[in-house]
Amino acid sequence: QWTTSSIVDEQVARIREQVGDGKAICGLSGGVDSAVAAALVQRAIGDRLTCVFVDHGLLRAGERAQVERDFVAATGVNLVTVDARERFLDALAGVTDPERKRKIIGREFIRVFEQAERDLKAEGDYGFLVQGTLYPDVVESGGGTGAANIKSHHNVGGLPDDLQFALVEPLRALFKDEVRRVGTELGLPETIVQRQPFPGPGLGIRIIGEVTAERLEILRKADAIAREELTTAGLDRQIWQCPVVLLADVRSVGVQGDGRTYGHPVVLRPVSSEDAMTADWTRLPYDVLERISTRITNEVDEVNRVVLDVTSKPPGTIEWE
Ligand code: XMP
Repeated sequence: QWTTSSIVDEQVARIREQVGDGKAICGLSGGVDSAVAAALVQRAIGDRLTCVFVDHGLLRAGERAQVERDFVAATGVNLVTVDARERFLDALAGVTDPERKRKIIGREFIRVFEQAERDLKAEGDYGFLVQGTLYPDVVESGGGTGAANIKSHHNVGGLPDDLQFALVEPLRALFKDEVRRVGTELGLPETIVQRQPFPGPGLGIRIIGEVTAERLEILRKADAIAREELTTAGLDRQIWQCPVVLLADVRSVGVQGDGRTYGHPVVLRPVSSEDAMTADWTRLPYDVLERISTRITNEVDEVNRVVLDVTSKPPGTIEWE
């Protein structure tokens, strides 16, 4: 029977054996898998690992700080942050079609990450690329090395033809719950280890309509309030995730104080699920819904209506785009 600390010891030994005295790069997405993979490799090879975090501007409130401050404090890892916010906004200007948004975000992400890889390679002899591939990813793709590509599609970009890296995949034998335990064993904070799923394209696919800096700011505020209230109510473990969606091209009439308002609705999409393939809408307690609604309409000027999505998957997907 494997204990968590024996998994850590075994993986650290394997990584040391594989990497020797080489150097490795790891893309951090802010999610659990890449964080735990990076922490394991850091434990094994120390500052011969460099992590790259791309801020595409589609992150939720506090997520960049969680990586730059909390993850670095917990691991001591070398971190390079690439601020690509403007680049993504430029690329997304005028785009409303969900599939086009996804393609653009994926494409820009890969370009930015590859450039960071090139910059690092120019500075040092980086021969290894760390990926947070899990066992279910390996199985899904038939067990071949394609697993890295499925994952990378969502996370850190595939391997560009002209950059030669050997893959380090220390989570390949593990399930999600084991990954979380390994993360805890390595001293990562709860906020990272217990993080709920969040899509690679981020808030870009939770703004229905064109993505702009102003709209991102509105959604970030509403989302932060919903997350804070759900956490305070102790509901994080019961819900799979709760997207907050901004209907940016819709306005409705409201009233606040003595004034008429003409603002945007946000949608709460709390879901319960085992694996995201199917999902049920979560029956959140009315008092929690009330607190979220009151706070969002009070604290986010541009939002004057909060609506609840009561659709299961199928027929609705979890995300709106
Ligand atoms: P849907 O909307 O398809 O979402 O029901 C299922 C789960 O996948 C997440 N999701 C993504 N994750 N990249 C990701 O890494 C993506 O492009 C992406 N799209 C959806 C979604 O948050 C849910 O957990």
